[in-house]
Amino acid sequence: DRDKASLFTPEIRAEIETWIAKYPTEWKQSAVMPALTIVQEANGGWLTRELMDDVAAYLDMPEVSVYEVATFYGMYDLEPQGRHKVCVCNSISCMLLGSEELIEHVEQKYGVRVGETTPDGRLTLKEVECLGACRHAPAVLVDQTYHENLSPQALDRLIDELE
Ligand code: FES
Repeated sequence: DRDKASLFTPEIRAEIETWIAKYPTEWKQSAVMPALTIVQEANGGWLTRELMDDVAAYLDMPEVSVYEVATFYGMYDLEPQGRHKVCVCNSISCMLLGSEELIEHVEQKYGVRVGETTPDGRLTLKEVECLGACRHAPAVLVDQTYHENLSPQALDRLIDELE
């Protein structure tokens, strides 16, 4: 709808342009991932169909290719999210070093399952693939910030600090 489409503002376009500028002109589609991240953030953490279509048009890409990227990578969400996202890495190193425990802890304390949002809309719990911080596992991405070597108590403190 028009409201959503209007999110694709000149500011957003300018931000996407800084990514496009990093690639040769004929490769501007390489900016698809940062472009999706930018519009997702502007839309409160999730991608609407309209926003994905805007990105496709802006990068001269087929819409379906943009949907494929958005559905393939765990950092994009196609449904409304909580105000904060807690993304626990559940790839092998983190799993061996306690990510399951972190997930169970959040599930019990906040009464949500992976993929769900608390009823007050404050928190969405997600499981994601390797965050590239395996040497300091377990790793968690809280909104846009990486945290490493987390215990359930340390994760609690991080969540308490969120508004
Ligand atoms: Fe968790 Fe790589 S396995 S960061």
